[in-house]
Amino acid sequence: MQRLADLVEANAQTLAEIETIDNGKAISGCLALDVGGSVDVLRYMAGFSTKIQGATRQLSVPGETFAMTIKEPVGVVAAVVPWNWPLNMAVWKLAAPLAAGCAVVLKPAQNTSLSMLYFAELCEQAGLPPGVLNVVTGSGSRIGSHLVAHAGIDKLSFTGSTEVGVEVGKLALEHMARVTLELGGKSPMVVFEDADIERVVQATQDSIFFNAGQVCSGGSRLYVQRSIYEQTLAAVAERAEAMKIGPGLDPECEMGPVISRAQQDNICQYIEIGQAEGAQLVCGGGRVEREGYFVQPTILACERNDLRVVQEEIFGPVLVVLPFDDEEEGLRLANDSIYGLGASVFTRDVSRALRCVR
Ligand code: TAP
Repeated sequence: MQRLADLVEANAQTLAEIETIDNGKAISGCLALDVGGSVDVLRYMAGFSTKIQGATRQLSVPGETFAMTIKEPVGVVAAVVPWNWPLNMAVWKLAAPLAAGCAVVLKPAQNTSLSMLYFAELCEQAGLPPGVLNVVTGSGSRIGSHLVAHAGIDKLSFTGSTEVGVEVGKLALEHMARVTLELGGKSPMVVFEDADIERVVQATQDSIFFNAGQVCSGGSRLYVQRSIYEQTLAAVAERAEAMKIGPGLDPECEMGPVISRAQQDNICQYIEIGQAEGAQLVCGGGRVEREGYFVQPTILACERNDLRVVQEEIFGPVLVVLPFDDEEEGLRLANDSIYGLGASVFTRDVSRALRCVR
């Protein structure tokens, strides 16, 4: 695994270019996070391979009894990953099982298989025994579902939409595989009147406009205390409008295209739905008129929390912004969601921050 990390590091530029061409994401972030982050995860998990321990426990039953646990590899792990972080997400999924002595069958998303195929070659060069990591490409509905339902799979690790997660979870349970699911989100950012607005602006850039908003934990709902609502909305919109949109290989690109025509259509449709529901378009508003599946960084000011654009995951660069009056209301609105993935609070009052986190 250490040799593999070295090889990923040595081939970082190639991997980042493959990922950028395949997925569309900006190469600067891709080098640092997708590839750099993968190197870190491989090294970190490699360290765990020497720290896997069972335990001996005395039991609270009569007599000199004790129990002993021995950790064993779970077996064959099926890993199914989405297209938004193709390499990085796959490495998160395979590094821990490899360190624990498991074999992995990994299915990348059909839109973004290239970095994993290149990575598999690096595994071979690193000396990973044949059959330990297997990359199987193809569509989710055909290849993915077959893999997940296969009785030879002992553990399923899936990241993707909630809808598919429920489906694959059931398939895996039919043959009693262990299941881990990481699914969708509609994460709130709650901003109190004592917050540093510059940090809020930066945070929106780093979450909902990063990776063209195709981030599971992206802060897609911004709740701002009414006294600083207009000022914050204007500052966030000004920065969003100034974003440099273009091909991911341009080193100055801040936001590339979204993954596909279907995703672009879906995002644009949500922007229309939001306006039809009464949300006010503050900036952006749809596709960028150029070749490629570009969507403008878009902000919708909303008055009601029950709008579809506030409740449903859009998975694109669309931020909804709503005002609130006091802490109780801010938290109530933030918690009024079927999702629970990420959340953030902006305040200089540490007691309030800790209270809100709970
Ligand atoms: P999905 O459609 O769920 O696809 C995810 C993966 O599952 C892909 O590899 C896909 O293959 C495969 N798949 C699709 N249908 C399948 C089936 N019936 N059986 C087995 N595998 C199947 O999600 P997506 O649209 O690619 O990704 C976006 C979603 O993922 C969002 O909801 C986002 O929030 C979520 N996500 C969550 C996280 C975390 S950490 N919670 C991280 C990233 C993304 P194909 O694409 O090849 O068909």
